Amino acid sequence: MHDFHYVGGRLHCERVAIESLVNKFGTPLYVYSQHTLTDHFQKLDIALAPLNHLVCFAVKANSNLAVIRTLANQGSGFDIVSEGELRRVIAAGGDPRKCVFAGVGKTEAEIEFALRQGIYSFNIESEPELARINRVAARLKKTAPIAVRVNPNIDAHTHAKITTGTYENKFGIAFEQIERVYARASRLKNLRLRGLQMHIGSQLTEVKPFEQAVKKILPLAAKLADKYDLEFFSVGGGLGIVYNPALDSGSPEWWQTPVAKKILTPATYAATLVPLLQPAGLRILIEPGRFIVGNAGILVTRVEFVKRTGRKNFVIVDAAMNDLIRPAFYDSYHEIVPLRRKGGAMTESDVVGPICESGDFFCKNRPLAKVGEGDHLALLSAGAYGFVMASNYNSRGLAAEVLVNGNRAASVRERQPLAEIWKSESVPAWLK
Ligand code: LLP
Repeated sequence: MHDFHYVGGRLHCERVAIESLVNKFGTPLYVYSQHTLTDHFQKLDIALAPLNHLVCFAVKANSNLAVIRTLANQGSGFDIVSEGELRRVIAAGGDPRKCVFAGVGKTEAEIEFALRQGIYSFNIESEPELARINRVAARLKKTAPIAVRVNPNIDAHTHAKITTGTYENKFGIAFEQIERVYARASRLKNLRLRGLQMHIGSQLTEVKPFEQAVKKILPLAAKLADKYDLEFFSVGGGLGIVYNPALDSGSPEWWQTPVAKKILTPATYAATLVPLLQPAGLRILIEPGRFIVGNAGILVTRVEFVKRTGRKNFVIVDAAMNDLIRPAFYDSYHEIVPLRRKGGAMTESDVVGPICESGDFFCKNRPLAKVGEGDHLALLSAGAYGFVMASNYNSRGLAAEVLVNGNRAASVRERQPLAEIWKSESVPAWLK
């Protein structure tokens, strides 16, 4: 569910007409719904209520300070992957003691910073990392809380670029190696073995792979917990969302279809996993990113030109792959709707950006209502892995971001001024 819907034929976010935001903030513009964010967080939190648990929002999905703050206010913890993300959490008022630090390449400086901040756990991805964290902790005369990320070698059947739980991936330590690695870690004086972690992939739309992975790993978690007094088991993130409502709900009228058929709801997820996890008596962590923020954000763009080539109808918009790279990178589907709903015939269209690459598209051959210069379109489900993956390619400034709460809207990131793009660059003296 989300809070983007038509009122009187105009697209709204909660009670605010998107057109009014376009007039005030321009385009391309990311718009986030605070209510959708809190609603998704709470649904998950409530579904997991029978467990001693902590929801750790995966900051990589959307690291805007306002998004982090919204979730921190709900009591969320955070899954971070860099010093930058930890600094963002702190800047937004989040609690470092509720942070877990993942990633295969943590630097010494990052480890030191995180240790000083007192994070909840380092999720370790290799044996050299174990040794490095122990060394840094010893130097600081601290004890580093750690969990090892176990790679369960389970194929989550998601996109190749976002599968993480098989031995073809760089992530985690192989299931068969885990006991040996814990034995080794237990001998390192400046480590405290606090938990075990897994994450099998992203955008999973069925509960089965989660169930398989938990069934495979939980006995190991219980055994290690017994032996080393572990406190938690993290089941990672990966809950998928509905990107294509027509496909997933059987109705193209997504705003009239509150319950999509194929979506993996927190209730379905919990109904399968809670009974499995509960007997272990461990604290359960979950690291959702996309589920919380994916459908809480849209990217609004202006139609600049409509170019008919005889074979094709290109709708050229002012947003591009530098603003939202998912279609170019993963061939992913984002629903595209006009800010003003119109009747009339649909035209097969390619919605494309102005960047000089054929990969700069948002959809191909998709039936869309007729639009013309100056109309606006919204790319839905752009809240996760949207703005955070943006770049300055083609020296395009980063888009603005707005947060809506009921009938209020506030800028949560100003559009990047162009001169800022090259402000850290310089020309060496010998060229002058
Ligand atoms: N925990 C770990 C260890 C992860 O690697 C990830 C995502 C998550 C949690 C959060 O996963 P989520 O709940 O959001 O599925 N850029 C890609 C997605 C990359 C996901 C990377 N890891 C996309 O746009 O689809």
